[in-house]
Amino acid sequence: MKGQTDTKPIFPDLDNIRQQFPLLARSVHGHPLVYLDNAATTQKPLSVIESVDRYYREQNANVHRAAHFLSACTTHAFEAARETARHFINARFAEEVIWTRGATEAINLVANSWGRSQLKEGDEIVLSRLEHHANIVPWQLLAETTGAIIKVIELDESGNLDLQQYQRLLSQKTRLVAITHISNAIGTISPVKAIIELAHNAGALVLVDGSQAVAHQEVDVQALDADFYVFSGHKVYGPTGIGILYGRRELMESMPPWQGGGEMIERVSFSGTRFNSLPFKFEAGTPNIAGAIGLGKALEFLAGIDFAAVNAHESQLRSLVEEGLTQINGIRLIGLAEQKAPVVSFVSSEHHNQDIGLMLDQQGIAVRTGHHCAMPLMESLKLNGTVRASFALYNTIDEARAFVDAMEKLHHSPLYNAHPEANSDKGDESGNTRAVITEATDLPEIFRHQAPGLVTITARLNGLSGWQERYRQIMLMGKELPVLSGEWKGDDARLHGCESSVWLHYHYDDETMRLYFIADSDARVIRGLIAIVLAVFSGKTPEEIEREDIEDWFRELDLFNHLSPSRGNGLKAIVREIQAIAHRYW
Ligand SMILES: Cc1ncc(COP(=O)(O)O)c(C=O)c1O
Repeated sequence: MKGQTDTKPIFPDLDNIRQQFPLLARSVHGHPLVYLDNAATTQKPLSVIESVDRYYREQNANVHRAAHFLSACTTHAFEAARETARHFINARFAEEVIWTRGATEAINLVANSWGRSQLKEGDEIVLSRLEHHANIVPWQLLAETTGAIIKVIELDESGNLDLQQYQRLLSQKTRLVAITHISNAIGTISPVKAIIELAHNAGALVLVDGSQAVAHQEVDVQALDADFYVFSGHKVYGPTGIGILYGRRELMESMPPWQGGGEMIERVSFSGTRFNSLPFKFEAGTPNIAGAIGLGKALEFLAGIDFAAVNAHESQLRSLVEEGLTQINGIRLIGLAEQKAPVVSFVSSEHHNQDIGLMLDQQGIAVRTGHHCAMPLMESLKLNGTVRASFALYNTIDEARAFVDAMEKLHHSPLYNAHPEANSDKGDESGNTRAVITEATDLPEIFRHQAPGLVTITARLNGLSGWQERYRQIMLMGKELPVLSGEWKGDDARLHGCESSVWLHYHYDDETMRLYFIADSDARVIRGLIAIVLAVFSGKTPEEIEREDIEDWFRELDLFNHLSPSRGNGLKAIVREIQAIAHRYW
């Protein structure tokens, strides 16, 4: 890999930092893990892991309530973590920091408390095209109940927010601007300070979704003059299930509680309830105590590292990868904003995003594929999704290189050149011809050509050592599936729950009383896996189909991990649909 980026290490103590993250030392599929899915969640340093462990081993008690020793220790640690968080974002007061389950809950809190009490029909909320669904859907729900209207800041071709158009959106009707600090999908850093100033000049409040920012840059809510700032702990080296809503004190004092319960009250009687003061007014029920303590430790860990060095190091990784990918024919980078976080999104003309994700995974490289919970952004880019590599401070130059090298191989190795469209009737190169169904008399032509039978599949997959060989076989099996033409790829045949597109059709043969299935996908690996699913189910009676256990087959073929719902490949959705169809004929 050649390029312009200076590869002199910026973090002299990177090895030391990596040693604090035990998970980074593990291997995946026999390869050292290269974890490039940090925008989804970051790994945790020992200080965080140990603080959570220690809390449950030595200290566990509820906060704020009991007079006993453990409760006092826990309350102290819990409130100390709040103070750490206050300091980290430079809020004026600790009561401006509300513990939530994460960014999503924090945004919902503001929408439900401030939004429902303040907005009326015709009021306007300004969002941007970059937003994560977590900063869209709560406002849509609010707009439905209040009659408020949502306006959208659009992007230029590089992925920068169009500030001129933003200014045109602002008016006396604008009540709130809810904007991401950094786009999780394409890495654009929003000019939040300017956005806030313009919104304030128009008399509107601003909520900043800082989910992707806090791990990469210093955040000062006072300097930004943000009214609300939210983020999740797990994206900033802390635990899951904990996050923060920062809100200006005067503003939050005037807001009604959202959820009711213990902790958020001062006095309850059946004639009325007096609410607790900030921050407890917004913290109904027992909080995630271990999470808050762990997040405090994560923020302490980050505070001990020079952010300028973090920034320079992560930018170096991004530049290396962007340069490397740009040199590969068929790869197009998505999102080239002037100010970018360490996120590299791209698409390939050669491979489906999901195929890339699966094949990188086989080499221990973890990236994210899909729409990244930013469907309105993908829609405007006219993409179904992208492949996204996102970096954290512990990633190394070697990892960045390994990723680019893997992408180069993916694009240049003949292993992957099995286009589904190149499917022919000549059979496959291993000498197997497709099974042709003859016993069913009334079977439409397209159902007659089935993928290889299970015996053939098992024989072909068993005994293959390397993942390349296995994937090659899987893709060849996919190649043997009939390619469905446009008329068979309507929305009515499309299955939901699949990251790639999957279409399924069936035919019930009255004479043999068997069900026949055909299916197709735009991802090659998925086509291969579908071939296995069809081999298990197609041509069987409804009773046999209902009895069949796909998990057993996938376990036997050592492909069980492909059935995980998190794969997003929809294999489970296909199986569910096939068995539901069988149930109708039972
Ligand atoms: C920009 C942005 N906002 C909000 C969220 C939602 O975060 P959580 O699911 O932790 O609440 C995410 C998560 O990916 C994100 O990237």
